[in-house]
Amino acid sequence: MSTAKTAAGKFTIDPAFTVGPVRRRTFGAFVEHLGRCVYTGIFEPEHPQADEDGFRTDVLELTRELGVSTVRYPGGNFVSGYRWEDGVGPVEQRPARLDLAWHSTDPNLVGVDEFAKWSVKAGVEPMMAVNLGTRGTQAALDLLEYCNIDGGTAFSDQRKANGAENGYGIKMWCLGNEMDGPWQIGHKSALEYGRLAADTAHGMRMIDPDLELVACGSSAPTMATFGEWERVVLTETYDVIDLISAHQYFEGAGDLQEHLAAGQKMEFFIRDIVSHIDHVKSVRKSTKQVNISFDEWNVWHMSRAESKAPTGKDWPVAPALLEDKYTVADAVVVGDLLITLLRNTDRVHAASLAQLVNVIAPIMTVPGGRAWKQTTFHPFALTSRHAAGAVLQLAVESPLISGGTTKDFSALSAVATLDAEAGEAVIFAVNRSATDPLTLDAAVAGLGSVRVVEAVTYANKDLYWRATVEDSTSVLPAANVSVKADGGRLTAELPAVSWSMIRLALDS
Ligand code: AHR
Repeated sequence: MSTAKTAAGKFTIDPAFTVGPVRRRTFGAFVEHLGRCVYTGIFEPEHPQADEDGFRTDVLELTRELGVSTVRYPGGNFVSGYRWEDGVGPVEQRPARLDLAWHSTDPNLVGVDEFAKWSVKAGVEPMMAVNLGTRGTQAALDLLEYCNIDGGTAFSDQRKANGAENGYGIKMWCLGNEMDGPWQIGHKSALEYGRLAADTAHGMRMIDPDLELVACGSSAPTMATFGEWERVVLTETYDVIDLISAHQYFEGAGDLQEHLAAGQKMEFFIRDIVSHIDHVKSVRKSTKQVNISFDEWNVWHMSRAESKAPTGKDWPVAPALLEDKYTVADAVVVGDLLITLLRNTDRVHAASLAQLVNVIAPIMTVPGGRAWKQTTFHPFALTSRHAAGAVLQLAVESPLISGGTTKDFSALSAVATLDAEAGEAVIFAVNRSATDPLTLDAAVAGLGSVRVVEAVTYANKDLYWRATVEDSTSVLPAANVSVKADGGRLTAELPAVSWSMIRLALDS
């Protein structure tokens, strides 16, 4: 690792230079039939705090507090073997099925109707994925008819009979999941998938031309398929889709400085995808703009035991899988990833933190017991609550650092948002240095006279502190008293490995 000599990170805020709007859909999450995300996560009828539909009200409250906008459902790898029909109708008649993706048994107590109901209670927009692994266009069209047609057809009348009088009006649909992954049931070549996705999108648009459709991008930037997959899939689907997906997880297996390079890696990945999209756009001489749905992102310690699915004859219902416990450093990385998504709001039009509850999640639950917040909950909730209006372009000048194979990236990662109507600007900043504090020195005269209304930093001496069910509150975002705004200049001390939020009121 190398650190630079300068200890100041600088930028100028000018309201005239914007990247694009703060999109509520940047703050999406993901609920998959995986481990305890659904069963004993969002749904646990026997829990003392369950409501009349079996949903945990403590989880609903935390979901609202987290500020989640969209929720992708029902998978993930799970969707590639899913028969949506199993999850509708009288519960006692629903079949239990093998879930091959996670070597589990799904009792199908929760399906599309329950998820739609939960979404209303949670105040989130549902984002539905269709199975293009073991199934195809017809099943996708049937599901769309079931969900969105108000009535008068076989599937829409079936939904009515199941208790939902009106269609759900679900706008965002994912055309399969990670279809280039050899682990995916029914995985395909780019051409096979591109043609299937295009046919399915074409049919879905015949039902509703206003849907927003997401084609599968490659499963990760490290896949051998990445790049060529995008080119082929986009060539096949460009005219009938709106977004291409991006998935990226950060293992944090190397040293800390390498882990803190995650935001920079995501930045490079976004730029690469944009270049693939725009290449196809240009070759096709298209005027249409396809953008990115970054619908799986997080820190995921994939190689740990928590991520190992059961094997052999063991097909449990809702086993504890992927239940990573996050450190303070992980939360700083998550805060930085969110900053990166916001900074690219011109091309990233939707994003989903994977996942919401228990499975690599900011919210954890004990079956029959408490729900609690992981470290990663805090930067997400505060960014979602306070980022509003427009994302401003910042030309950050900062000491450069290197971590792992990522060389010479900025120690300061920052983004600013401006809500002119509310008279508020917010700076979100991460000091990615594993060792050195940094002085933030921002020229803010362009905003006129400003007053600091809130300044908080999330950091801790013990970077490996993790929240637990017994103690989830010892380390919380705390007031940063070093922040000063005076004479058009804002300064703040940012400890090494820290995430900060500074809210400024604009005097009118
Ligand atoms: O989020 C966990 C898994 O990661 C999802 O099921 C899959 O899409 C990805 O590989």
